[in-house]
Amino acid sequence: ATTLGAAAAGSGRYFGTAVASGRLGDATYSTILDREFTMVTPENEMKWDAVEPSRGSFNFAPGDSIVSHASAHGQKMRGHTLVWHSQLPNWVSSIGDATTLRSVMNNHITQEMSHYKGRIYAWDVVNEAFADGGSGQHRSSVFQNVLGNGFIEEAFRTARTVDPAAKLCYNDYNIENWSDAKTQGVYSMVKDFKSRGVPIDCVGFQSHFGTGGPPASFQTTLSNFAALGVDVQITELDIAQASATAYGNTVKACLNVARCTGITAWGIRDSDSWRTGENPLLFDNSGNKKPAYSAALTALGGG
Ligand code: G3I
Repeated sequence: ATTLGAAAAGSGRYFGTAVASGRLGDATYSTILDREFTMVTPENEMKWDAVEPSRGSFNFAPGDSIVSHASAHGQKMRGHTLVWHSQLPNWVSSIGDATTLRSVMNNHITQEMSHYKGRIYAWDVVNEAFADGGSGQHRSSVFQNVLGNGFIEEAFRTARTVDPAAKLCYNDYNIENWSDAKTQGVYSMVKDFKSRGVPIDCVGFQSHFGTGGPPASFQTTLSNFAALGVDVQITELDIAQASATAYGNTVKACLNVARCTGITAWGIRDSDSWRTGENPLLFDNSGNKKPAYSAALTALGGG
């Protein structure tokens, strides 16, 4: 296989990328997108501020443009994201009443998932709900502060009723190192959800790595989560300076875990990345393949 998508398919996996709707008209960008990638995550277009900027007023047009492009090119979609403390409009973050916020959250999930029903392989139902640092607890957010610990479970239960065919994922960053308190906090939540029958199908490890790439325990982390009975995915991969070794090690960690079902890079060219100046992606500013690309392709079994 000579592309990331085809090489990943050799072991039943996908290789995806974040896509910005505003770049789809860039021929260099869309040529690489359609040649290499088999899964697409909208970089911003399905977030709350984009989709429901004021209460009950929904705008799906930017997200729809990505879904149509993906559909026309045989790419699957990851929905990103339904419940997140960031890129959240003020009208939501200022709600102080639990009955109102519960209804607003469930309505947002219901409207957005219904709109895209049947067209999304997996949803990031809740994104980044755990705190950084040593607490292992949920972070402060309007959802946590007004609804309490149960908001995550409620979001997943609502999501399952709306689109029972979609895989429902929890997605977070800095949960790649096994011994970190944040990793352990998420692991305990998933274990608890599985033991009580709360619907969760997958955990996304964002994998925004520094120059050294993944922590030594990354494969252990993926495999320990998978052993709870969920799929695991690398969902937002980028690595400062993108060394070939770091990319190769990341891909190998996934390939070594049967339930690691796919890898998504957080953008195509370095110039498309949110990490300005870090050159963290697989293609340079001109769209040429970087050494990290070859390392990833080889690790996937292609070349
Ligand atoms: O759309 C406005 C535009 O109208 C305005 O002129 C411009 C001026 O700054 O801003 C535009 O919005 C920006 C948006 O991206 C779309 O380009 C925001 O400022 C900017 O903050 C936003 O950044 C996104 C970031 O999430 C926001 O938290 C990045 O593109 C996106 O890559 C990043 O992705 C997140 C994942 O969703 C979750 N995990 C972490 C990851 C990296 O932060």
